Amino acid sequence: MINNRQEDVTVAAIAAMEPTTDPRLREIMVSLIKHLHGFIRDTRLTEAEFREATTILGEIGKLSTDTHNEMVLMAGSLGVSSLVCLLNNGDHGNTETAQSLLGPFWRLHSPRVENGGTIVRSKTSGAPLFVNARVVDHAGNPVVGAEVDVWHASPDGLYENQDPGQAEMNLRGKFTTDAGGCFWFRTVMMTGYPIPTDGVVGRLLKLQDRHPFRPAHLHALIFKPGFKVLISQVYDPADPNIETDAQFGVTEALLGNFVRHEAPHPTEPDVGAPWYSLDHVYKMEAGEAMLPRPPIK
Ligand SMILES: [Fe+2]
Repeated sequence: MINNRQEDVTVAAIAAMEPTTDPRLREIMVSLIKHLHGFIRDTRLTEAEFREATTILGEIGKLSTDTHNEMVLMAGSLGVSSLVCLLNNGDHGNTETAQSLLGPFWRLHSPRVENGGTIVRSKTSGAPLFVNARVVDHAGNPVVGAEVDVWHASPDGLYENQDPGQAEMNLRGKFTTDAGGCFWFRTVMMTGYPIPTDGVVGRLLKLQDRHPFRPAHLHALIFKPGFKVLISQVYDPADPNIETDAQFGVTEALLGNFVRHEAPHPTEPDVGAPWYSLDHVYKMEAGEAMLPRPPIK
């Protein structure tokens, strides 16, 4: 087709998508063309802005490595990751869900830890935190023998893979739920942290006068055949940025019951005040147990 008017190119591009064999891919590509072309008309995108946009997208790709994923960071910073999560869980966004963002820091092959063990593998600041968690199905029955990956940032605001000062796999561990669906472990109380700001996302946040912080949270990925893999985060409601997460991940259902204790721990002689506890129930939904692709190695 030879274009005579600007409208013709949209018609031609949609027609070029039509032969896509896979029907779902066809649906996605046709809709993408419609929205992309609509976006360009809506914003009256200039040639200079378009060139800048292609440069930025290329830069996002170049910034993504085995240990850093700028694309996931950008998707989160635009609210896209959260929208995809909420639209695909909790009865298609109509009811609350324990599902949350995977984030850019999940790693495969976390070391196994027995229940009651610690995930602190090198000297780490922060008050002790004791996590007592239970995994249940939609009816409240225990999910026995589920594999649970947990991970979180150090109180210095860095995941171990970002920080040469931490041991390999520090603050990461894999647990198995017991006959009551429970798993429990010791770690340190996490704090909020800034997402990496030395790339494209950082420049955008600065231009928008947005802070880069995520409120303190504990990640979990729970796997058991017969259930949809539960990717969850539990947030500390006391965090000063709980209402302004740079990645838009916080929902009511994900607010955790973190308790600060002002007396020494009753059974752990090495734990003086203050220390923290978190009691939490993770609810799994029926579905296919498909692991996501890890965003980093
Ligand atoms: Fe995180």
